[in-house]
Parts: sequence; structure tokens; C-alpha cells
Amino acid sequence: MTHSANGSNTSERVVIFDTTLRDGEQSPGASMTLEEKLEVADLLDQLGVDIIEAGFPIASPGDFESVAEVARRVKNASVAGLARASDKDIDRCAEALREAKRPRIHTFISTSPVHMKYKLQMEPERVLELVASSVTRARNHVAEVEWSAEDGTRTEIDFLCRCVETAIKAGASTINIPDTVGYTTPQEYEALFRTVRERVPNADKAIFSVHCHDDLGLAVANSLAGVRGGARQVECTINGLGERAGNAAMEEVVMALKTRPDILPYHTNIDAKLLTRASKLVSAVTSFPVQYNKAIVGRNAFAHESGIHQDGMLKNAHTYEIMTPESVGVSKTSLVMGKHSGRHAFREKLKELGYDLGENQLNDAFNRFKDLADRKKFVYDEDLIALVDDEIVTAHDHIKVLALMVMAGTQGPQSAALTLDIDGDKVTHQATGNGPVDAIFNAIKALAPHEATTLELYQVHAVTEGTDAQAEVSVRLSEDGKSVTGRGADPDTLVASARAYVSALNKLIVKRGRARPEAMQAV
Ligand code: KIV
Ligand code: ZN
Repeated sequence: MTHSANGSNTSERVVIFDTTLRDGEQSPGASMTLEEKLEVADLLDQLGVDIIEAGFPIASPGDFESVAEVARRVKNASVAGLARASDKDIDRCAEALREAKRPRIHTFISTSPVHMKYKLQMEPERVLELVASSVTRARNHVAEVEWSAEDGTRTEIDFLCRCVETAIKAGASTINIPDTVGYTTPQEYEALFRTVRERVPNADKAIFSVHCHDDLGLAVANSLAGVRGGARQVECTINGLGERAGNAAMEEVVMALKTRPDILPYHTNIDAKLLTRASKLVSAVTSFPVQYNKAIVGRNAFAHESGIHQDGMLKNAHTYEIMTPESVGVSKTSLVMGKHSGRHAFREKLKELGYDLGENQLNDAFNRFKDLADRKKFVYDEDLIALVDDEIVTAHDHIKVLALMVMAGTQGPQSAALTLDIDGDKVTHQATGNGPVDAIFNAIKALAPHEATTLELYQVHAVTEGTDAQAEVSVRLSEDGKSVTGRGADPDTLVASARAYVSALNKLIVKRGRARPEAMQAV
């Protein structure tokens, strides 16, 4: 397919496969609830993502349910589910995708010597048989089948070519060669795609795909190199979320292609103006903060501090700016509204920020906005985003913070009187602690006991500048080796702390319930 990008440039289309909900969610502490996954899926669809990998249906009832629900509501993108090379995995995946408009089964098996010997404990010939049988089985369920050679970049080239040929022959239309352990380099990865495409006789019958991890900080560079080597699908995640050091960041891949069509003559279907919004949403629902100096979506990505740079920018923005903040959806910080703003203006402002809330959520968010506007002199876009994200994240919670009173200061012990709503019951407890935050967390533990849980992280940051800024608190809890992160925002740091802890606890309850439905009630 050709496309006329900057006048005379002819560029080829690169398909974007987003795996924020699968590889991204596998990142420790990044788990999302069903509602959060649906929010993200809706935005990915709006963004123009071609394929949304929604999860790994065999992994748990929760994963199955979320893949099925994403499949049901996504309007434009293909929806993919992951499956190992086993009949059970593939059948379960097909079942989860039943209502998708364009279902894709993504099946994989390890092909490197180290994975085959130690992880699979299989001979290469057996792996090859499974490549054929798994793709054939998947093709009997759906038209779109993607096959991945796990640890592809450490796979012996002759064997990789045999596997790729077999997968295409069995009906795979996409061949993914992942850099599972983030080991390759740009030159090597580009050459790998050239070699495989040259040597595999039926290579022209499939689209080749890159899937890179960032262990050496090369995931985006490697992905772009793979495209130069002939790949036309890029697997990536919002904010580079993913296993260990993460996956290639979608915003970086997309903007590299947009900014350098002279050396990268490829285009995507992504509406770049929604990238900032997507970054904020994924950060909010996972509670993973975005590094300040992160390319494209970090808060300093378009900030010019030094006098020389500011002077150049004032004379001509091209001196130090290779893309505009507006092109990725960064709006100038603006004073949004005051306490006299009405519901209509509030709804319009949210639309401008990319939110489309239902009536109930809009009412709750509006009430919180009124409360915030009473307490805070200036309400900025960032304040609204923090408030609405908090509202979205907590809308379906079993436990909610109703009231908090704290005694703090030099004369200990500090104490907290906390009222929670637990599944509709209003309960209150007063606890002491080594500091106000400890007292609040002790009160929560007394009201909603959860013994095996460990507090792994407590982090505070200010949403905007000024001493009346909202605090955004992240709390990570772990149970049985699984971690979840909760987030709370409020101008009062202690209220935000209580909300963040309760939000993490809500995620743990959902996680327990999804893993073992009978445990849904247990707190
Ligand atoms: O990194 C990897 O190899 C994967 C595969 C399952 C595609 O995520
Ligand atoms: Zn991966």
C-alpha cells in the first residue's frame, strides 16, 4: 500500500499491534481490573491501533472474561488472544474471541536451543510438529492466525527458517520474531528479517512482525530496524509497559516514523494527538508513573529550561523542537474552570480532554470537581485528569473511603478515624500508628483484614505546582507473589493515601475473585 506523506514521499503502511493489555499487564504490579482494561481498549481503538492483544485467555477466568469483553465491544481493531501451542489453549482462546468482529489467535512456542532444552524439554523436531499442529488448529477456528517464535533472536537461523515456513504453510498470516529477552541490536535484527524473508520460500504469504523488549534500552531502535529489514507489523505498548524493562513504546515508534519519513518511509494509522491521553490513562490505571524525561509523553518532553534554548525557541520553534507538543496531544496548561462552572461546561471540558463518561460517572466526577474547586484556587487540566482517572478507577470498587479524620504532629502516637463503605455497609474504626499514614493503613487493615498482604511501595507526587496542588499517591500491595498498585488523588495527601491503599485492596479482591470466583467476597 502506498501513501503520500510529505508531498513527494511515498511510504508503506506499518500495522500497529498493541499488547498493553497482555505483555504490558504481565509487568509486576501493573494489573488492571476489567473496567480499566475496557477503558484502555476503547482508547486504543480510537487511537487507530490495528490489533489489540487483549490477554491470555487460558491464564485465569479473569483473563478469559476480559478478552471476551474486549472482543465484544471493540469496533474497528482486530482483537487478539494469546495461546501456547496446545489444543486446550487454542480452543479456550477461540472461545474468548467468539464475539470479536475480527478475531486473531496469536499462538507461540519457544524455538531457541536454551528454551527448547530447559523450558520445553523437547527435541526440535517435536517443536516443529507443534508449530504445524497449533497453527492448523487455530486456523480451523479463525481466519487471522499469528505465529510467534519465542526467543526468536537466540534461535539457530536454519531452524527458525524451517519453523517460519511450516507456520506459513499451516495458515499463519503473520509471523512474529520476538526479541523476548531484549538481547538483539539494530543491525542484527534488521539482518535477521532480511535473511528469513530471503530464505523462506513462502515468506511473501505472510506479514512479518517485530516484538522487542527493552532490557538493553534498544526496544524501539530494534523495532525500527526490523521494519527496515522488511517487517510490517510492530508490537508495542503504551508507555513501554511490559515484562522486566518493558516493551517498545508505541508513542516512540509512531513519532519516530512521523518525524523521520526521509529515512523511515513508513506510516501508521495512529492518531498521534491521542498519544498523551493514552499515556495518562495507562499510567493512571496501572499506577505506574511516567518518567519525567520519557520521550514523547514525559512531562519534560517539551520543556525548555536553559536560557539559550528558550531564546532559540522564541526566535523560531524549529531551533530546538523536532515535533510540536500539539502533534502528540499536549495542550498548553490552562486554567480550566472555577467553582461557578456548570455541568455543561464540565462535560465539554472532559470531552476536549478525551473523556466520554456515562451519566452516573459524570455526576460523581462533577461533585468531586465542585469539592475540589472549593478547596483549590486554580483548577488545571492536570487536576481534572487526575480527578476523572481516579473516578474511573474507583467506580466499581467494593470498598470506598467515606470520611477520614487524622491527628498528627510532634506529640505521638498519631491516630486516624476512618469510615469506609464496604459493599454498602458503613463501618468506622480509629487506629494509632507510627505517623499518620501508618495510622490510616492500620485503620484500613482493621476494617478490611487482609493478612498475607505486604506493602511494597508508597509514593507521593504533586499533580501540579503550588502548595495547594493535588497529591497523587501510589500504593503497591502484594499477596502470594502477585502485586497490584492502587492510586488516589486529593489535595489532602492523607486522604489520597487512604484512597490509594483502598484502591490497591480493591484490585486485590478482584484479582482473588477472578483467580478463584468463590473468594470474591473475602477481604
Ligand atoms: O516476548 C515474547 O516472546 C512474547 C511472546 C509471547 C510473543 O511476549
Ligand atoms: Zn513479549
